[in-house]
Amino acid sequence: MYPLIRNRRLRTTESIRRLVRETVITTDDFLVPLFVVEGKGVKEEIPSMPNYFRLSLDHLEKEVRELWKMGFCAVLLFVKVPDNLKDNKGTEAINPNGLMQLAIKTIKNACPEMLVMTDVALDPYSTYGHDGIVAEGQILNDETAEVLAEMSVSHAQAGADFVAPSDMMDGRILTIREAFEDEGFQNTGIMSYAAKYASAFYGPFRDALDSAPVDIANVPKDKKTYQMDPSNRFEAIRETQMDIDEGADIVMVKPGLPYLDIVREIKNEVEVPVAVYQVSGEYAMLKAAAEKGWLDHDTVMLEQLTAIKRAGANIIASYFAKDFVRVMG
Ligand code: PBG
Repeated sequence: MYPLIRNRRLRTTESIRRLVRETVITTDDFLVPLFVVEGKGVKEEIPSMPNYFRLSLDHLEKEVRELWKMGFCAVLLFVKVPDNLKDNKGTEAINPNGLMQLAIKTIKNACPEMLVMTDVALDPYSTYGHDGIVAEGQILNDETAEVLAEMSVSHAQAGADFVAPSDMMDGRILTIREAFEDEGFQNTGIMSYAAKYASAFYGPFRDALDSAPVDIANVPKDKKTYQMDPSNRFEAIRETQMDIDEGADIVMVKPGLPYLDIVREIKNEVEVPVAVYQVSGEYAMLKAAAEKGWLDHDTVMLEQLTAIKRAGANIIASYFAKDFVRVMG
């Protein structure tokens, strides 16, 4: 009791603060998202994601070598698919010589130890910008899961260590796991986007990949029939438990900062590693506020990353990875 106990004693100097600090972030915590684009010598800045780029394979190779040198050990790949290769069923997604498959091989050649995780969902490949097959105004569940399993096997064949299904179809983890077992990919992992909310924070990402749902008749204009309602908490636990039962090795909550209550809830509930995706809109908000001089970029970034880890994240997918190294050395 005061005055015998004074909590400020443990805050007196930086050394004592370091000694009692509960949450420390290192490069090992990061999963670095990368956007891949066709062509050669292409490094295009994404307008709504300052200082973040779409990379052609040659730049991707350089980037991954640099990330490895900086201390990062895992990347998460997304591809931007040209319109002429898009259709309703994601045919291009299972092309063994498709951009994703080439990207995986490029990285595994250049830097074999870098853990490669791949996005699995149809939206970058879909004429309609949906994560699944569209029919009569609906997103088909089981038919989509089958395609996602084929896509996953194709990524595994190209050398992916993990697939990361971000689509939120029911039962797709089981379908993918069974396909892996059948095809001899027992050691290929699955990181499921288990509790993924229908969030407006994904806007800049959809700019990056040109993957937003299109505005045409009989196509849903949002993803609310498969992504979760931001109002719900118990549902996040159910989704996550189901994915674990179906064989997910790692589960993810997404977005990050506005959903840290969910992160903690899930962390308390499950025994597999929990990943958190600090999404594109979270990145864009801080970049914009810092550009205006309204927030101090580096300290706010560190505070946000710390909050995400403190809430229970074992892995943080974040566009701030390189900024983190710039600040922390
Ligand atoms: C699509 C996908 C999205 C993100 C990751 N995978 C967008 C969406 O669901 O519309 C968002 C990532 C981000 O905003 O950084 N399957």
